[in-house]
Amino acid sequence: MKVHVADHPLISHKLTVLRDERTDSPTFRRLVEELVTLLAYEATRDVRTVNVKITTPVTKTEGKKMAEPRPVVVPILRAGLGMLEGMAKLVPTAEIGFLGMVRDEKTLQASTYANRLPEDLSGRQCFVLDPMLATGGTLIAAFHFLIDLGATDITAICILAAPEGITAVEKEFANSKVPITLVTGALDEKLNEHGYIVPGLGDAGDRLYGVV
Ligand code: URA
Repeated sequence: MKVHVADHPLISHKLTVLRDERTDSPTFRRLVEELVTLLAYEATRDVRTVNVKITTPVTKTEGKKMAEPRPVVVPILRAGLGMLEGMAKLVPTAEIGFLGMVRDEKTLQASTYANRLPEDLSGRQCFVLDPMLATGGTLIAAFHFLIDLGATDITAICILAAPEGITAVEKEFANSKVPITLVTGALDEKLNEHGYIVPGLGDAGDRLYGVV
Protein backbone atom coordinates (compact mmCIF):
# COMPACT_ATOMS: atom_id res chain seq x y z
CA MET A 1 0.00 0.00 0.00
CA LYS A 2 1.21 3.46 -0.88
CA VAL A 3 0.82 5.80 2.12
CA HIS A 4 0.82 9.56 1.67
CA VAL A 5 0.73 11.72 4.79
CA ALA A 6 -0.19 15.22 3.64
CA ASP A 7 2.29 17.74 4.94
CA HIS A 8 0.89 21.24 4.61
CA PRO A 9 0.55 24.05 7.17
CA LEU A 10 -3.14 24.60 6.30
CA ILE A 11 -3.88 20.92 6.91
CA SER A 12 -2.00 21.01 10.25
CA HIS A 13 -3.89 24.14 11.31
CA LYS A 14 -7.31 22.73 10.45
CA LEU A 15 -6.47 19.38 12.09
CA THR A 16 -5.46 21.11 15.33
CA VAL A 17 -8.82 22.92 15.53
CA LEU A 18 -10.63 19.67 14.60
CA ARG A 19 -8.93 17.72 17.39
CA ASP A 20 -9.77 20.31 20.05
CA GLU A 21 -12.62 19.00 22.23
CA ARG A 22 -14.09 22.52 22.43
CA THR A 23 -14.77 22.62 18.66
CA ASP A 24 -18.54 22.43 18.12
CA SER A 25 -20.32 20.22 15.55
CA PRO A 26 -20.98 22.92 12.91
CA THR A 27 -17.31 23.98 12.94
CA PHE A 28 -16.21 20.34 12.99
CA ARG A 29 -18.34 19.57 9.91
CA ARG A 30 -17.01 22.58 8.02
CA LEU A 31 -13.40 21.70 8.86
CA VAL A 32 -13.85 18.07 7.76
CA GLU A 33 -15.22 19.30 4.44
CA GLU A 34 -12.30 21.68 3.94
CA LEU A 35 -9.73 19.06 4.94
CA VAL A 36 -11.19 16.50 2.55
CA THR A 37 -10.98 18.95 -0.34
CA LEU A 38 -7.29 19.48 0.42
CA LEU A 39 -6.65 15.73 0.81
CA ALA A 40 -8.67 14.95 -2.31
CA TYR A 41 -6.37 17.17 -4.33
CA GLU A 42 -3.51 14.85 -3.40
CA ALA A 43 -5.59 11.66 -3.66
CA THR A 44 -6.68 12.38 -7.24
CA ARG A 45 -3.15 12.96 -8.52
CA ASP A 46 -3.35 9.71 -10.56
CA VAL A 47 -6.94 10.04 -11.71
CA ARG A 48 -7.16 8.85 -15.32
CA THR A 49 -7.33 11.49 -18.03
CA VAL A 50 -7.62 11.58 -21.83
CA ASN A 51 -6.23 14.11 -24.26
CA VAL A 52 -8.86 16.30 -25.91
CA LYS A 53 -8.68 18.91 -28.62
CA ILE A 54 -10.31 22.25 -27.82
CA THR A 55 -10.46 25.72 -29.28
CA THR A 56 -9.75 28.68 -27.01
CA PRO A 57 -10.82 32.19 -28.07
CA VAL A 58 -7.26 32.50 -29.41
CA THR A 59 -6.28 29.17 -30.99
CA LYS A 60 -6.74 25.42 -31.25
CA THR A 61 -4.93 23.45 -28.54
CA GLU A 62 -4.90 20.13 -26.71
CA GLY A 63 -5.84 19.64 -23.09
CA LYS A 64 -6.75 16.84 -20.67
CA LYS A 65 -10.11 15.77 -19.29
CA MET A 66 -11.05 13.10 -16.80
CA ALA A 67 -11.48 9.76 -18.58
CA GLU A 68 -14.57 7.54 -18.67
CA PRO A 69 -15.61 5.53 -16.77
CA ARG A 70 -15.84 8.16 -14.08
CA PRO A 71 -14.30 7.49 -10.67
CA VAL A 72 -16.56 6.16 -7.93
CA VAL A 73 -16.56 7.86 -4.54
CA VAL A 74 -17.63 5.63 -1.65
CA PRO A 75 -18.27 7.27 1.71
CA ILE A 76 -18.45 4.74 4.52
CA LEU A 77 -21.57 5.47 6.55
CA ARG A 78 -21.96 7.07 9.00
CA ALA A 79 -18.87 9.25 9.51
CA GLY A 80 -17.68 9.10 5.88
CA LEU A 81 -20.81 10.97 4.87
CA GLY A 82 -19.34 14.09 6.48
CA MET A 83 -16.51 13.87 3.94
CA LEU A 84 -18.66 13.62 0.82
CA GLU A 85 -19.26 17.33 0.15
CA GLY A 86 -15.54 18.11 0.33
CA MET A 87 -14.79 15.38 -2.21
CA ALA A 88 -17.73 16.20 -4.49
CA LYS A 89 -16.57 19.81 -4.68
CA LEU A 90 -13.33 18.70 -6.25
CA VAL A 91 -14.68 15.85 -8.41
CA PRO A 92 -18.29 16.84 -9.13
CA THR A 93 -18.67 14.34 -11.99
CA ALA A 94 -17.74 11.29 -9.89
CA GLU A 95 -20.37 8.64 -9.32
CA ILE A 96 -21.24 8.16 -5.65
CA GLY A 97 -21.87 4.81 -4.00
CA PHE A 98 -22.56 4.09 -0.35
CA LEU A 99 -21.33 1.44 2.04
CA GLY A 100 -22.74 1.23 5.54
CA MET A 101 -20.38 -0.39 8.00
CA VAL A 102 -20.55 -0.62 11.74
CA ARG A 103 -17.83 -1.55 14.18
CA ASP A 104 -18.65 -3.75 17.17
CA GLU A 105 -17.20 -1.72 20.05
CA LYS A 106 -16.29 -4.92 21.99
CA THR A 107 -14.70 -7.06 19.26
CA LEU A 108 -13.77 -4.07 17.03
CA GLN A 109 -14.94 -6.20 14.06
CA ALA A 110 -16.59 -4.35 11.16
CA SER A 111 -19.71 -5.61 9.41
CA THR A 112 -21.68 -4.29 6.41
CA TYR A 113 -25.29 -3.21 7.02
CA ALA A 114 -26.00 -1.29 3.79
CA ASN A 115 -24.65 -1.23 0.26
CA ARG A 116 -25.59 0.98 -2.66
CA LEU A 117 -22.85 0.53 -5.24
CA PRO A 118 -22.66 -0.14 -8.98
CA GLU A 119 -22.90 -3.93 -9.53
CA ASP A 120 -19.75 -3.93 -11.62
CA LEU A 121 -16.74 -1.85 -10.66
CA SER A 122 -14.44 -3.31 -13.35
CA GLY A 123 -12.00 -0.70 -14.54
CA ARG A 124 -13.22 1.86 -12.02
CA GLN A 125 -11.02 3.98 -9.79
CA CYS A 126 -12.59 4.00 -6.33
CA PHE A 127 -12.12 6.64 -3.64
CA VAL A 128 -13.16 5.46 -0.20
CA LEU A 129 -13.97 8.10 2.41
CA ASP A 130 -13.57 7.15 6.06
CA PRO A 131 -12.31 9.73 8.55
CA MET A 132 -10.51 7.40 10.97
CA LEU A 133 -8.19 4.53 10.06
CA ALA A 134 -8.04 2.95 13.52
CA THR A 135 -7.77 -0.88 13.69
CA GLY A 136 -8.18 -1.11 9.91
CA GLY A 137 -11.17 -3.47 10.23
CA THR A 138 -13.62 -1.18 8.42
CA LEU A 139 -11.30 -0.35 5.54
CA ILE A 140 -10.26 -3.99 5.12
CA ALA A 141 -13.91 -5.07 4.87
CA ALA A 142 -14.71 -2.15 2.51
CA PHE A 143 -11.72 -2.88 0.23
CA HIS A 144 -12.71 -6.58 -0.03
CA PHE A 145 -16.24 -5.52 -0.93
CA LEU A 146 -14.99 -3.23 -3.73
CA ILE A 147 -12.42 -5.72 -5.04
CA ASP A 148 -15.11 -8.43 -5.18
CA LEU A 149 -17.13 -6.05 -7.40
CA GLY A 150 -14.14 -5.65 -9.73
CA ALA A 151 -12.52 -2.37 -8.56
CA THR A 152 -9.13 -1.99 -10.21
CA ASP A 153 -7.63 0.63 -8.01
CA ILE A 154 -8.58 1.99 -4.64
CA THR A 155 -7.57 5.12 -2.78
CA ALA A 156 -8.72 5.71 0.78
CA ILE A 157 -8.91 9.23 2.15
CA CYS A 158 -8.74 9.34 5.95
CA ILE A 159 -8.47 12.43 8.12
CA LEU A 160 -6.32 10.54 10.68
CA ALA A 161 -4.59 7.16 10.66
CA ALA A 162 -3.06 4.98 13.38
CA PRO A 163 0.07 2.89 12.72
CA GLU A 164 -1.78 -0.27 13.83
CA GLY A 165 -4.44 0.27 11.15
CA ILE A 166 -1.92 0.88 8.40
CA THR A 167 -0.03 -2.29 9.35
CA ALA A 168 -3.26 -4.34 9.35
CA VAL A 169 -4.33 -3.09 5.90
CA GLU A 170 -0.84 -3.59 4.48
CA LYS A 171 -0.73 -7.17 5.80
CA GLU A 172 -4.20 -8.02 4.47
CA PHE A 173 -3.50 -6.75 0.94
CA ALA A 174 0.23 -7.54 0.69
CA ASN A 175 -0.40 -9.92 -2.24
CA SER A 176 -3.31 -8.08 -3.81
CA LYS A 177 -3.09 -7.20 -7.51
CA VAL A 178 -5.26 -4.14 -6.89
CA PRO A 179 -3.13 -1.08 -6.13
CA ILE A 180 -4.18 0.53 -2.86
CA THR A 181 -3.25 4.02 -1.71
CA LEU A 182 -3.93 5.81 1.55
CA VAL A 183 -3.96 9.59 1.77
CA THR A 184 -4.23 10.92 5.31
CA GLY A 185 -3.94 14.24 7.08
CA ALA A 186 -1.79 12.85 9.89
CA LEU A 187 -0.27 9.64 11.18
CA ASP A 188 -1.07 9.57 14.90
CA GLU A 189 0.74 7.81 17.72
CA LYS A 190 -1.29 4.69 18.55
CA LEU A 191 -4.65 3.17 19.47
CA ASN A 192 -5.88 3.08 23.05
CA GLU A 193 -7.47 0.03 24.70
CA HIS A 194 -10.90 1.01 23.31
CA GLY A 195 -9.64 1.19 19.72
CA TYR A 196 -9.60 5.01 19.64
CA ILE A 197 -6.82 6.87 17.89
CA VAL A 198 -4.43 8.74 20.24
CA PRO A 199 -4.22 11.73 20.30
CA GLY A 200 -7.02 11.52 17.69
CA LEU A 201 -10.19 13.56 17.81
CA GLY A 202 -12.61 11.23 19.61
CA ASP A 203 -15.58 9.62 17.85
CA ALA A 204 -15.74 11.24 14.41
CA GLY A 205 -19.41 10.28 13.83
CA ASP A 206 -20.50 11.69 17.19
CA ARG A 207 -18.57 14.90 16.66
CA LEU A 208 -20.04 15.34 13.18
CA TYR A 209 -23.62 14.46 13.96
CA GLY A 210 -24.00 14.30 17.74
CA VAL A 211 -24.51 11.09 19.75
CA VAL A 212 -27.32 8.84 18.46
N1 URA B 1 -13.41 5.78 15.07
C1 URA B 1 -13.51 7.06 15.56
O1 URA B 1 -14.48 7.76 15.29
N2 URA B 1 -12.50 7.53 16.32
C2 URA B 1 -11.41 6.79 16.62
O2 URA B 1 -10.52 7.30 17.32
C3 URA B 1 -11.33 5.48 16.11
C4 URA B 1 -12.35 4.99 15.35
